[in-house]
Amino acid sequence: MSNAASSNDTTLILGATGKTGRRVAARLRLRGTPVRAASRSSPTRFDWSAPDGWDAALRGITAAYVVPPPVPGPVHEFVARAEAAGVRRLVLLSGRGADTWGDSTFGLDMRSAEDAVRGSALEWTVLRASNFNQNFDEDLFHAPLVAGGLALPAGAVPEPFIDIDDVADAAAAVLAEPGRHAGRIYELTGPRALTFAEAVELISRASGLPITYKQVSPAEYTAALVEEGWGEDDAHHVAEMFVLMERGVIAETTDGVATVLGRAPRTFEDYVVRAAAAGAWRP
Ligand SMILES: NC(=O)c1ccc[n+]([C@@H]2O[C@H](COP(=O)([O-])OP(=O)(O)OC[C@H]3O[C@@H](n4cnc5c(N)ncnc54)[C@H](OP(=O)(O)O)[C@@H]3O)[C@@H](O)[C@H]2O)c1
Repeated sequence: MSNAASSNDTTLILGATGKTGRRVAARLRLRGTPVRAASRSSPTRFDWSAPDGWDAALRGITAAYVVPPPVPGPVHEFVARAEAAGVRRLVLLSGRGADTWGDSTFGLDMRSAEDAVRGSALEWTVLRASNFNQNFDEDLFHAPLVAGGLALPAGAVPEPFIDIDDVADAAAAVLAEPGRHAGRIYELTGPRALTFAEAVELISRASGLPITYKQVSPAEYTAALVEEGWGEDDAHHVAEMFVLMERGVIAETTDGVATVLGRAPRTFEDYVVRAAAAGAWRP
């Protein structure tokens, strides 16, 4: 007897215009699960800084996919409202090894969101993902690659990049299987850890473009982001992620994808081929 979610259960997707949210929403819609897509610019308006609008987003919802807000704090109130609204399940996106980040100032937003969700009376599951492959074509690393060179404070410590389609597959599977993943924290990585130099080399080869990688110091990287128009605090926060990664505590691969999905994670090479074929890094 399957304990699959009823196709009438509406799932709230926060961050629904973002990299994971829109992929999770598409998967749920395809399998016939009603989706309420929410964010500041989504059909259902949801703003982490405007709690007055949260109850309307939560009304009639069975489960929610939660992308943490960029600041610590609001998820505690969100969870209280979800409990009051009769929501039964929460699936939270977080970062690989969040309980090993210690005194790092990185990821206080994700750690606060974890505290809120894990402390709730609801059925919850946390998906802790490594750096996404798609950061290279849909996010921070894309523009420098198109310009011909990526410079980051990352050296010999490799990163087990994960394909965001595996993160979305895992989120959709967890949302579709009530009970099975209750109280579980899944560490989701790709099948192999690569240095950023190796990742850029693969992108350069598959795209046929002369793209270079250069290691810089965290201070140089912070200054470069500020030069591009980032605020000091945000730039420092991103640099702190690399300082944390260089400690090596989140560099190992895990079997999280296989545990949730019963198959191996997609490779970085598979990602690079697909993105290069779509012209992702063409100047
Ligand atoms: N990138 C990685 O490698 C990685 C790895 C592990 C974990 N994470 C975590 O994943 C999260 C980001 O997830 P993602 O990559 O799927 O999203 P994303 O592509 O960064 O997009 C952010 C989403 O959040 C919404 N949003 C932004 N500010 C909001 C606000 N004030 N109120 C309500 N919604 C807001 C945005 O939509 P609107 O603009 O329409 O509001 C958008 O849908 C972060 O917590 C990050 O730390 C990232």
